[in-house]
Amino acid sequence: MKGYPSYLIYCFGGLLSLWILCVSSTNQCTVRHEVADCSHLKLTHIPDDLPANITALNLSHNQLRSLPPTNFTRYSQLTILDAGFNSISKLEPELCQTLPSLKILNLQHNELSQISDKTFVFCMDLIELYLMSNSIHKIKSNPFRSQKNLIKLDLSHNGLSSTKLGTEVQLENLRELFLSKNKILALRSEELNFLGNSSLQKLDLSSNPLKEFSPGCFHAVGKLSTLLLNNAQLDLHLTEKLCWELSNTSIQNLSLANNQLLATRDTTFSGLKQTKLTLLDLSYNNLRDIGNDSFSWLPQLRYLSLEYNNIQCLSPRSFYGLSNLRFLNLKRAFTKQSISLASHPKIDDFSFQWLKYLEYLNMDDNNIPGTKGNMFTGLVSLKYLSLSKTFTSLQTLTNETFLSLVHSPLLTLNLTKNHISKIASGAFSSLGQLRILDLGLNEIEQELTGQEWRGLRNIFEIYLSYNKYLQLTSNSFALVPSLQRLMLRRVALKNVELSPSPFHPLRNLTILDLSNNNIANINEDLLEGLENLEILDFQHNNLARLWKHANPGGPVNFLKGLSRLHILNLESNGFDEIPVEVFKNLFELKSINLGLNNLNILLPSIFDDQLSLRSLNLQKNLITSVEKNVFGPAFQNLSSLDMRFNPFDCTCESIAWFVSWINQTHTDIPELSSHYLCNTPPQYHGFPVMLFDTSSCKDSAPFELLFMINTSVLLVFILMALLIHFEGWRISFYWNVSVHRVLGFKEIEAQPEHFEYTAYIIHAHKDTNWVWKHFSPMEEQDQSLKFCLEERDFEAGVLGLEAIVNSIRRSRKIIFVITYNLLKDPLCRRFKVHHAVQQAIEQNLDSIILIFLQDIPDYKLNHALCLRRGMFKSRCILNWPVQKERINAFHHKLQVALGSRNSAH
Ligand SMILES: *[C@@H]1O[C@H](CO)[C@@H](O)[C@H](O)[C@H]1NC(C)=O
Ligand SMILES: *[C@@H]1O[C@H](CO)[C@@H](O)[C@H](O)[C@H]1NC(C)=O
Ligand SMILES: *[C@@H]1O[C@H](CO)[C@@H](O)[C@H](O)[C@H]1NC(C)=O
Ligand SMILES: *[C@@H]1O[C@H](CO)[C@@H](O)[C@H](O)[C@H]1NC(C)=O
Ligand SMILES: *[C@@H]1O[C@H](CO)[C@@H](O)[C@H](O)[C@H]1NC(C)=O
Ligand SMILES: *[C@@H]1O[C@H](CO)[C@@H](O)[C@H](O)[C@H]1NC(C)=O
Ligand SMILES: *[C@@H]1O[C@H](CO)[C@@H](O)[C@H](O)[C@H]1NC(C)=O
Ligand SMILES: *[C@@H]1O[C@H](CO)[C@@H](O)[C@H](O)[C@H]1NC(C)=O
Repeated sequence: MKGYPSYLIYCFGGLLSLWILCVSSTNQCTVRHEVADCSHLKLTHIPDDLPANITALNLSHNQLRSLPPTNFTRYSQLTILDAGFNSISKLEPELCQTLPSLKILNLQHNELSQISDKTFVFCMDLIELYLMSNSIHKIKSNPFRSQKNLIKLDLSHNGLSSTKLGTEVQLENLRELFLSKNKILALRSEELNFLGNSSLQKLDLSSNPLKEFSPGCFHAVGKLSTLLLNNAQLDLHLTEKLCWELSNTSIQNLSLANNQLLATRDTTFSGLKQTKLTLLDLSYNNLRDIGNDSFSWLPQLRYLSLEYNNIQCLSPRSFYGLSNLRFLNLKRAFTKQSISLASHPKIDDFSFQWLKYLEYLNMDDNNIPGTKGNMFTGLVSLKYLSLSKTFTSLQTLTNETFLSLVHSPLLTLNLTKNHISKIASGAFSSLGQLRILDLGLNEIEQELTGQEWRGLRNIFEIYLSYNKYLQLTSNSFALVPSLQRLMLRRVALKNVELSPSPFHPLRNLTILDLSNNNIANINEDLLEGLENLEILDFQHNNLARLWKHANPGGPVNFLKGLSRLHILNLESNGFDEIPVEVFKNLFELKSINLGLNNLNILLPSIFDDQLSLRSLNLQKNLITSVEKNVFGPAFQNLSSLDMRFNPFDCTCESIAWFVSWINQTHTDIPELSSHYLCNTPPQYHGFPVMLFDTSSCKDSAPFELLFMINTSVLLVFILMALLIHFEGWRISFYWNVSVHRVLGFKEIEAQPEHFEYTAYIIHAHKDTNWVWKHFSPMEEQDQSLKFCLEERDFEAGVLGLEAIVNSIRRSRKIIFVITYNLLKDPLCRRFKVHHAVQQAIEQNLDSIILIFLQDIPDYKLNHALCLRRGMFKSRCILNWPVQKERINAFHHKLQVALGSRNSAH
């Protein structure tokens, strides 16, 4: 219902803009930075309403029949005009007059058949002219005479039968001339004389039925350095002739691909001996025999391609003389017809011995039986050797297999797809410099003892993925601690749970791929110490049990300590639980893939440390709710999210936060409208999550607030009730103290020391004897002490209440001698204690000293006298010692208590 008005607006807006478009203009060219692109618009007319200051106009792929000069007057600043792929059959010379700045003119794939001296006569500044795929069969006199600045001219695919483009010397700046796919039968010097003063560097004559190279033909063509003669059906004889014609030219790159050069002889390239040829392409030639010393004329050659041929045999003199070769491509170069065993190509020992500077050798995709003792001997500069799908019977790699590479500074060795089934110990020991070893897609099945890698001192990457069966030991990688990348995908990996972990020695490992191994058992220390690990591929295994809280011994946190981890792939592992601590401290994680698991409820806070996350994949799980306390941190800097195919629960609690996050985020969420569907509640089943209306959820917000306030109030209340119940006495006592202090009882305290007695002693009548016995001697010992003892100091022992009050007033301290007798003594209970406490409150709490003669629990004390130990300072609470020897100490404590001044501050 809500979308209805907005649809109307869209509809209306769409109509409006359409109308504006119809009224304003018919052309839909796009104009950006003075470049107008009008291609693919079925135009039959030149647009007349483009900005007049455009410098490039693309009219290609339209239905134009001509380019009338008057229709271009508006665009006089054009430097580039592309009118390719139209039906233009005639070009008016005045066009270039209208476009005096034109530099690039493209007329390819049109219907031009006639070009005359006048056609381009005004196009004097042209730099590039494209005329390929027209119907220009013949060129009369000199149509390109005024193109003094032309650098590139393309006339391929036109039906020309001669290379002759003019009768006099011209095109002095031409560098590239394309004449492929014509009907040129012969190269004659008189037909190339028009280039006599040119700087031509590149000439393409491919796909012409050439049958003749007349003497001196290339000497007419100044500084030719690149000649393309592919698909020309040159045979051995013509090739030899061609090379002779090229002698003493500046030729550097010669491409002779896809000719029928079935063999080479020691004379074939002899004409090139005076040249500086650096590149020779002989690919796709069906070449069977490379005659001895064929290349001995090419000491400058650096790049030789022989790929896709049919070579049967390499002998020690096949490559003789290629002393500067850097790059040799022998991919699919050897015969593959496997009619009989004899059809295996034969590569003799020492075949490569001359290639002292060869750095790159590609022998992929051949049918070579195996390596020989001196197969690669002499390749003392070789760095990259690609032997993918090269051998037919290389089952076991032994310490002899690569012995011939012992003097090569090899960095990369590619051995994929060779049906290798075993690596014997020391197989690579002659390759001490090797950095990258690719053994993927073989049939290796063995226990890795570690000896396989012996001698790989500098190894950086070992790729072992897609093999048959690998069993690990704790030492599997002990000899290659420099390893940074280890790929073990789909190798039926066994013994991963060993302790110490097989990966333990690989401190510098940054990439580890253990995916597709059906691993179910690992230890917590599997990846321990791999502090540099950045990428961990663990997808398609069976790790679910390890993260279950019911796992015996608790969940296994195998990611612990991987503080550099950037990319983590755990797809398809059957996980249905994620312990809350597994992603803790993985602050640098940028990508987590947990797709295709069985995750339902994720615990709050699991992604709290993933603020750097850029990509999160949780597709095809059982997630019903997406809540802030789980996903908030992970979503903060996310650039891509995949949660497709989850059974979302479209209720306010589960999804409202997610929907409003989607509404405001810039994160890329592919297929949001089609593959994020509600599963529950039933009335929303199949409804797109993004259309969930969160406004109905906002209504519940005030109630939520109310609920929160209510709960808080209730909690505070309960707390207070509890506090009062257990600590109420303290509260009321200190309240009393404070009130008295505040309400001006200060004058008492303000009075100077006027006390008559050191202390007034409150005791039960029954304890009189004890008091006399112990306090009188103290007075005798210390003249400054004077206790107020009722029986002694009151006149005739009269216990007038007023006298008591006065005496208490005149005492600096009040001592309670606490016994069970005191608790029972009615006078003490009702009057003396109360009064003493009142005075203490007015004066100071320090003024009361409790002496316990018996052990009396606090609650009884409180019950009888309304006193608690907690009201007084600990130094004012004394216990009469049972042991005689401690009585001295007691006296000392009492004196300290008596001495403490009545100042509370
Ligand atoms: C050139 O302009 C004239 C008049 O403005 C117009 O009639 C004609 O169709 C245009 N021709 C092309 C090919 O655009
Ligand atoms: C070309 O013309 C358009 C308007 O027609 C103007 O916006 C643009 O600035 C002009 N560009 C230059 C380089 O003058
Ligand atoms: C003109 O457009 C075509 C098709 O879009 C494109 O292939 C061609 O490169 C463009 N020409 C120029 C000069 O940009
Ligand atoms: C060849 O070019 C040079 C200058 O590049 C010029 O002096 C000479 O006349 C030209 N020769 C011919 C035959 O045009
Ligand atoms: C290769 O290993 C065998 C034993 O496994 C040993 O006898 C032989 O000397 C080793 N060869 C080289 C070249 O190390
Ligand atoms: C090895 O060769 C295969 C096949 O050409 C290729 O796919 C792979 O990337 C190469 N390995 C390395 C490390 O270059
Ligand atoms: C590991 O990397 C560090 C730092 O790049 C380097 O110094 C150390 O030599 C490497 N360890 C091994 C065994 O290659
Ligand atoms: C999406 O955001 C816009 C403005 O930012 C707001 O008007 C609209 O109601 C929001 N829609 C939903 C479903 O939250």
